[in-house]
Amino acid sequence: MDIINLLDEEFLEKKGLIKIEIQEKLYSKKNNLFKIRCFFKTDKYGPLNGSLFVFKQYSGIAGAERKKKETFMLNALGRLQQSNKKYQNLLVPELFCEGKDHIITYFISGETLLDYAERSENEKSSLANGNISSFLPFKNCIDWIIKFHAESKKLAGKSCILNDINLRNFIICSRGWNAGKIYRLDFEDWGKGCIEKDLGKLIAFILTYDPMFTEWKIKLSGYVKKYIVEELKVNSSDLETEIEMELEEMASRRKISQKQYSDY
Ligand SMILES: Nc1ncnc2c1ncn2[C@@H]1O[C@H](COP(=O)(O)OP(=O)(O)O)[C@@H](O)[C@H]1O
Ligand SMILES: [Mg+2]
Repeated sequence: MDIINLLDEEFLEKKGLIKIEIQEKLYSKKNNLFKIRCFFKTDKYGPLNGSLFVFKQYSGIAGAERKKKETFMLNALGRLQQSNKKYQNLLVPELFCEGKDHIITYFISGETLLDYAERSENEKSSLANGNISSFLPFKNCIDWIIKFHAESKKLAGKSCILNDINLRNFIICSRGWNAGKIYRLDFEDWGKGCIEKDLGKLIAFILTYDPMFTEWKIKLSGYVKKYIVEELKVNSSDLETEIEMELEEMASRRKISQKQYSDY
Protein backbone atom coordinates (compact mmCIF):
# COMPACT_ATOMS: atom_id res chain seq x y z
CA MET A 1 0.00 0.00 0.00
CA ASP A 2 1.34 3.41 -1.00
CA ILE A 3 -0.07 5.66 1.70
CA ILE A 4 1.37 8.94 0.43
CA ASN A 5 -0.69 8.62 -2.77
CA LEU A 6 -3.89 8.55 -0.70
CA LEU A 7 -3.17 11.92 0.91
CA ASP A 8 -4.40 15.24 -0.36
CA GLU A 9 -1.74 17.07 -2.39
CA GLU A 10 -2.49 20.42 -0.81
CA PHE A 11 -2.01 18.87 2.61
CA LEU A 12 1.31 17.26 1.62
CA GLU A 13 2.51 20.59 0.27
CA LYS A 14 1.40 22.51 3.35
CA LYS A 15 3.13 20.13 5.74
CA GLY A 16 6.13 19.51 3.47
CA LEU A 17 5.49 15.78 3.84
CA ILE A 18 7.61 13.99 1.24
CA LYS A 19 7.94 10.37 2.24
CA ILE A 20 6.03 7.76 4.25
CA GLU A 21 7.53 4.42 5.21
CA ILE A 22 5.36 1.60 6.51
CA GLN A 23 6.90 0.11 9.64
CA GLU A 24 4.33 -2.47 10.67
CA LYS A 25 0.75 -3.61 10.11
CA LEU A 26 -1.23 -3.17 13.32
CA TYR A 27 -3.81 -5.63 14.55
CA SER A 28 -7.41 -4.84 13.62
CA LYS A 29 -10.45 -6.95 12.83
CA LYS A 30 -12.22 -4.37 10.72
CA ASN A 31 -9.83 -1.63 9.56
CA ASN A 32 -6.44 -1.25 7.86
CA LEU A 33 -3.92 0.14 10.30
CA PHE A 34 -0.22 0.76 9.83
CA LYS A 35 2.49 2.18 11.99
CA ILE A 36 4.28 4.63 9.68
CA ARG A 37 7.32 6.88 9.65
CA CYS A 38 6.96 10.33 8.05
CA PHE A 39 9.64 12.50 6.49
CA PHE A 40 9.29 16.24 5.87
CA LYS A 41 11.19 18.65 3.66
CA THR A 42 10.72 21.86 5.58
CA ASP A 43 12.32 22.99 8.82
CA LYS A 44 8.92 23.88 10.19
CA TYR A 45 8.32 20.20 10.89
CA GLY A 46 12.00 19.54 11.48
CA PRO A 47 11.60 18.05 14.97
CA LEU A 48 8.97 15.68 13.58
CA ASN A 49 11.21 14.43 10.80
CA GLY A 50 11.36 10.65 10.86
CA SER A 51 8.80 10.36 13.63
CA LEU A 52 6.08 7.78 13.99
CA PHE A 53 2.37 8.05 13.24
CA VAL A 54 -0.54 5.66 12.77
CA PHE A 55 -2.48 5.46 9.52
CA LYS A 56 -6.03 4.13 10.00
CA GLN A 57 -8.22 3.35 7.01
CA TYR A 58 -11.87 2.61 7.78
CA SER A 59 -12.85 -0.39 5.73
CA GLY A 60 -16.01 -2.47 5.80
CA ILE A 61 -19.54 -1.57 6.77
CA ALA A 62 -20.38 2.05 7.63
CA GLY A 63 -16.74 3.14 7.38
CA ALA A 64 -17.62 6.79 6.74
CA GLU A 65 -19.94 6.91 9.75
CA ARG A 66 -17.35 5.25 12.01
CA LYS A 67 -14.68 7.69 10.87
CA LYS A 68 -16.97 10.63 11.55
CA LYS A 69 -17.71 9.44 15.10
CA GLU A 70 -14.05 8.84 15.81
CA THR A 71 -12.76 12.17 14.51
CA PHE A 72 -15.54 14.05 16.31
CA MET A 73 -14.47 12.57 19.65
CA LEU A 74 -10.71 12.81 19.05
CA ASN A 75 -11.13 16.50 18.25
CA ALA A 76 -13.52 17.17 21.14
CA LEU A 77 -11.28 15.41 23.68
CA GLY A 78 -8.16 17.05 22.28
CA ARG A 79 -9.73 20.50 22.77
CA LEU A 80 -11.04 19.64 26.24
CA GLN A 81 -7.66 18.35 27.30
CA GLN A 82 -5.96 21.58 26.29
CA SER A 83 -8.62 23.81 27.83
CA ASN A 84 -7.95 23.06 31.46
CA LYS A 85 -5.45 21.22 33.65
CA LYS A 86 -8.21 19.21 35.30
CA TYR A 87 -8.66 17.24 32.05
CA GLN A 88 -4.98 16.50 31.62
CA ASN A 89 -5.39 12.76 32.19
CA LEU A 90 -8.12 12.35 29.60
CA LEU A 91 -5.50 11.53 26.99
CA VAL A 92 -6.07 10.59 23.34
CA PRO A 93 -3.66 10.53 20.38
CA GLU A 94 -3.55 13.83 18.53
CA LEU A 95 -5.02 13.87 15.04
CA PHE A 96 -2.43 14.79 12.40
CA CYS A 97 -4.65 14.63 9.34
CA GLU A 98 -7.90 13.35 7.97
CA GLY A 99 -8.77 12.11 4.46
CA LYS A 100 -11.82 10.69 2.77
CA ASP A 101 -11.63 7.21 4.32
CA HIS A 102 -8.68 7.50 6.71
CA ILE A 103 -6.98 9.40 9.50
CA ILE A 104 -3.40 9.76 10.70
CA THR A 105 -2.71 10.13 14.41
CA TYR A 106 0.52 10.61 16.33
CA PHE A 107 1.95 7.29 17.47
CA ILE A 108 1.78 6.60 21.21
CA SER A 109 4.74 4.57 22.44
CA GLY A 110 3.83 1.99 25.00
CA GLU A 111 2.06 -1.22 25.74
CA THR A 112 -1.66 -1.95 25.29
CA LEU A 113 -3.51 -2.83 28.47
CA LEU A 114 -3.96 -6.33 27.04
CA ASP A 115 -0.20 -6.83 26.54
CA TYR A 116 0.39 -5.46 30.02
CA ALA A 117 -2.18 -7.82 31.58
CA GLU A 118 -0.76 -10.84 29.75
CA ARG A 119 2.79 -9.94 30.72
CA SER A 120 1.85 -9.35 34.36
CA GLU A 121 0.07 -12.67 34.56
CA ASN A 122 2.96 -14.53 32.89
CA GLU A 123 5.42 -12.94 35.26
CA LYS A 124 3.03 -13.96 38.06
CA SER A 125 3.41 -10.39 39.13
CA SER A 126 2.49 -8.97 42.45
CA LEU A 127 -1.27 -9.57 42.76
CA ALA A 128 -0.75 -13.02 44.24
CA ASN A 129 1.56 -11.59 46.90
CA GLY A 130 -0.87 -8.98 48.04
CA ASN A 131 1.15 -6.25 46.31
CA ILE A 132 -1.18 -4.25 44.11
CA SER A 133 1.27 -2.30 41.95
CA SER A 134 0.15 -4.24 38.86
CA PHE A 135 -3.33 -2.93 39.52
CA LEU A 136 -2.30 0.70 38.92
CA PRO A 137 -2.76 0.79 35.10
CA PHE A 138 -6.22 -0.72 35.57
CA LYS A 139 -7.07 1.94 38.14
CA ASN A 140 -5.93 4.60 35.64
CA CYS A 141 -8.05 2.95 32.96
CA ILE A 142 -11.14 2.96 35.21
CA ASP A 143 -10.49 6.63 36.06
CA TRP A 144 -10.31 7.39 32.32
CA ILE A 145 -13.63 5.64 31.62
CA ILE A 146 -15.37 7.39 34.53
CA LYS A 147 -14.00 10.83 33.64
CA PHE A 148 -15.06 10.39 30.02
CA HIS A 149 -18.59 9.57 31.15
CA ALA A 150 -18.62 12.55 33.53
CA GLU A 151 -17.51 14.99 30.82
CA SER A 152 -19.41 13.46 27.89
CA LYS A 153 -22.43 15.72 28.24
CA LYS A 154 -20.15 18.66 27.64
CA LEU A 155 -18.61 16.89 24.65
CA ALA A 156 -21.63 15.35 22.96
CA GLY A 157 -24.72 16.83 24.59
CA LYS A 158 -25.66 13.59 26.35
CA SER A 159 -24.17 11.16 28.88
CA CYS A 160 -22.09 8.73 26.87
CA ILE A 161 -20.03 5.60 27.26
CA LEU A 162 -17.34 4.08 25.07
CA ASN A 163 -19.04 0.71 24.43
CA ASP A 164 -15.91 -0.92 22.96
CA ILE A 165 -13.91 -1.75 26.08
CA ASN A 166 -11.47 -4.18 24.47
CA LEU A 167 -8.18 -3.98 26.44
CA ARG A 168 -6.34 -3.28 23.16
CA ASN A 169 -8.00 0.13 23.06
CA PHE A 170 -5.94 1.46 25.98
CA ILE A 171 -2.22 2.20 25.84
CA ILE A 172 0.02 2.73 28.84
CA CYS A 173 2.32 5.45 27.57
CA SER A 174 6.01 4.70 28.04
CA ARG A 175 7.66 7.98 26.96
CA GLY A 176 7.80 11.68 27.69
CA TRP A 177 5.73 13.79 30.08
CA ASN A 178 2.85 11.35 30.03
CA ALA A 179 4.82 8.17 30.76
CA GLY A 180 2.72 5.86 32.91
CA LYS A 181 -0.54 7.51 31.91
CA ILE A 182 -3.34 5.89 29.93
CA TYR A 183 -4.25 6.91 26.38
CA ARG A 184 -7.58 5.77 24.99
CA LEU A 185 -7.88 4.83 21.28
CA ASP A 186 -10.85 3.82 19.19
CA PHE A 187 -13.94 6.07 19.34
CA GLU A 188 -16.02 4.28 16.74
CA ASP A 189 -18.72 2.99 19.06
CA TRP A 190 -19.36 5.66 21.71
CA GLY A 191 -22.97 6.50 22.44
CA LYS A 192 -25.61 7.09 25.08
CA GLY A 193 -25.38 4.74 28.06
CA CYS A 194 -24.90 4.21 31.79
CA ILE A 195 -21.45 3.90 33.31
CA GLU A 196 -22.07 0.43 34.80
CA LYS A 197 -22.16 -0.91 31.24
CA ASP A 198 -18.59 0.13 30.36
CA LEU A 199 -17.29 -0.94 33.76
CA GLY A 200 -19.09 -4.30 33.60
CA LYS A 201 -17.55 -4.85 30.16
CA LEU A 202 -14.09 -4.01 31.47
CA ILE A 203 -14.41 -6.74 34.11
CA ALA A 204 -15.84 -9.22 31.61
CA PHE A 205 -12.89 -8.54 29.27
CA ILE A 206 -10.39 -8.97 32.09
CA LEU A 207 -11.90 -12.34 32.99
CA THR A 208 -12.09 -13.72 29.47
CA TYR A 209 -8.93 -12.97 27.56
CA ASP A 210 -7.06 -16.18 26.89
CA PRO A 211 -6.71 -18.29 29.10
CA MET A 212 -10.05 -17.40 30.66
CA PHE A 213 -11.00 -17.27 34.35
CA THR A 214 -7.56 -18.03 35.78
CA GLU A 215 -6.96 -17.45 39.47
CA TRP A 216 -4.92 -14.34 38.64
CA LYS A 217 -7.73 -12.86 36.51
CA ILE A 218 -10.36 -13.53 39.14
CA LYS A 219 -8.12 -11.88 41.73
CA LEU A 220 -7.51 -8.86 39.50
CA SER A 221 -11.21 -8.49 38.74
CA GLY A 222 -11.80 -8.57 42.51
CA TYR A 223 -9.52 -5.54 42.96
CA VAL A 224 -11.21 -3.79 40.06
CA LYS A 225 -14.70 -4.37 41.50
CA LYS A 226 -13.62 -3.27 44.95
CA TYR A 227 -12.20 -0.02 43.58
CA ILE A 228 -15.29 0.67 41.48
CA VAL A 229 -17.79 -0.06 44.25
CA GLU A 230 -15.98 1.20 47.36
CA GLU A 231 -14.11 4.22 46.07
CA LEU A 232 -16.25 5.30 43.15
CA LYS A 233 -19.55 4.35 44.80
CA VAL A 234 -20.95 2.57 41.78
CA ASN A 235 -23.92 0.35 42.67
CA SER A 236 -22.63 -3.18 43.18
CA SER A 237 -25.68 -5.11 41.99
CA ASP A 238 -26.01 -2.97 38.84
CA LEU A 239 -22.36 -3.71 38.13
CA GLU A 240 -22.83 -7.47 38.65
CA THR A 241 -25.85 -7.44 36.31
CA GLU A 242 -23.79 -5.77 33.58
CA ILE A 243 -20.89 -8.22 34.05
CA GLU A 244 -23.27 -11.15 33.71
CA MET A 245 -24.94 -9.68 30.64
CA GLU A 246 -21.59 -9.07 28.95
CA LEU A 247 -20.37 -12.60 29.78
CA GLU A 248 -23.53 -14.04 28.26
CA GLU A 249 -23.10 -11.93 25.13
CA MET A 250 -19.46 -12.97 24.86
CA ALA A 251 -20.39 -16.63 25.21
CA SER A 252 -22.78 -16.42 22.29
CA ARG A 253 -20.47 -14.17 20.24
CA ARG A 254 -17.48 -16.42 20.70
CA LYS A 255 -19.61 -19.57 20.42
CA ILE A 256 -18.05 -20.96 23.55
CA SER A 257 -19.92 -23.33 25.79
CA GLN A 258 -22.03 -21.35 28.21
CA LYS A 259 -20.83 -23.68 30.97
CA GLN A 260 -17.40 -22.15 31.46
CA TYR A 261 -18.99 -18.73 31.76
CA SER A 262 -21.80 -19.72 34.09
CA ASP A 263 -19.33 -21.59 36.34
CA TYR A 264 -17.63 -18.31 37.13
N1 LIG B 1 -2.09 6.44 17.85
C1 LIG B 1 -1.72 5.18 18.11
N2 LIG B 1 -0.55 4.94 18.74
C2 LIG B 1 -0.14 3.68 18.99
N3 LIG B 1 -0.83 2.57 18.63
C3 LIG B 1 -2.01 2.73 18.00
C4 LIG B 1 -2.52 4.04 17.71
N4 LIG B 1 -3.70 3.88 17.06
C5 LIG B 1 -3.92 2.55 16.96
N5 LIG B 1 -2.91 1.84 17.53
C6 LIG B 1 -2.78 0.36 17.59
O1 LIG B 1 -3.62 -0.21 16.60
C7 LIG B 1 -4.62 -1.04 17.18
C8 LIG B 1 -5.95 -0.83 16.47
O2 LIG B 1 -6.38 0.53 16.57
P1 LIG B 1 -7.90 0.92 16.78
O3 LIG B 1 -8.04 2.39 16.60
O4 LIG B 1 -8.39 0.35 18.05
O5 LIG B 1 -8.58 0.19 15.53
P2 LIG B 1 -9.81 -0.82 15.47
O6 LIG B 1 -11.02 0.04 15.51
O7 LIG B 1 -9.69 -1.48 14.16
O8 LIG B 1 -9.73 -1.73 16.64
C9 LIG B 1 -4.66 -0.65 18.66
O9 LIG B 1 -5.07 -1.73 19.46
C10 LIG B 1 -3.24 -0.21 18.93
O10 LIG B 1 -2.44 -1.33 19.24
MG1 LIG C 1 -9.76 -1.10 18.63
